[in-house]
Amino acid sequence: MTNYLNFAVYDYSMKLIGKGKAKDIYLADNGDIIFEFTDRITAFDGAKKAEYANKGKVCCALAEYWFNILGHEGVPTHFKEKVGETGMRVVNLKILPVEVIWRNYVAGSLWRRYENKEIKLPDDTEAREGAPIPNGMLEFTTKFEAIDRPVTTQEIIDAKWMTEKELEYLRDVTGKINSIMFSHLLRKNIILADFKVEFGKKTNGKIILADEVGTPDGCRFWDRNAYIKGELHSLDKDVFRKNKGDLSAAYLEIYNRITKD
Ligand code: TMP
Ligand code: ASP
Repeated sequence: MTNYLNFAVYDYSMKLIGKGKAKDIYLADNGDIIFEFTDRITAFDGAKKAEYANKGKVCCALAEYWFNILGHEGVPTHFKEKVGETGMRVVNLKILPVEVIWRNYVAGSLWRRYENKEIKLPDDTEAREGAPIPNGMLEFTTKFEAIDRPVTTQEIIDAKWMTEKELEYLRDVTGKINSIMFSHLLRKNIILADFKVEFGKKTNGKIILADEVGTPDGCRFWDRNAYIKGELHSLDKDVFRKNKGDLSAAYLEIYNRITKD
């Protein structure tokens, strides 16, 4: 990765308008949004926090990588350009109030909710962490509440957050994003266990992919060789959530494995 000036000193006219868990959000003069990917990391709804060197650079570069691939494959996204090493210019959208989660394997909160007897697993899915979910599954969680909680499509429609037609579109496009990323990663010997995406609405009402995509903050990536031997070797934020070693090293490894042929 080339060394540029950190973008925060790049354009003094930008106004800080928000701070997410890992990104700072600026408004540019022309109305665009600029993200700064920081080295911050949080988990468990902010209860666990830290900073890791290179995390911002890796997530920014991987988000750019996937936005380009998805854009070429016909998925409309908010990506405009990368700015320096940790900045990204994107379209200013009205972010939809739900996060969309796609799961190919049993992991994370799905496994936890199953163990706590809160849910059943999808049909034909073995009750084991790491088990494949035939045909995958989609879940929605809240975005603008203190704790991200799963919501049903009925609740989303009743709250008038989205229409049935919009939900159908989110289902289709998230399935398409999964197919593209899953097959691409498999060629690199990486299993895409699950991921989260967010969407926003343009002023003309069109819904497009927002936030970041395909980063180790928002996906679970497992090494396929280890999986075949029966081990879940994480190259993502689970390294932090589960204290599984050095996060900077895991993030650099996944960056190299995804982007280098
Ligand atoms: P979960 O198993 O904790 O529900 O997470 C599923 C996937 O979505 C996992 O790859 C992490 C990602 N995710 C986020 O990036 N942000 C979130 O707020 C949540 C709930 C999940
Ligand atoms: N919603 C979770 C949190 O805030 C997401 C995660 O663990 O990545 O911690």
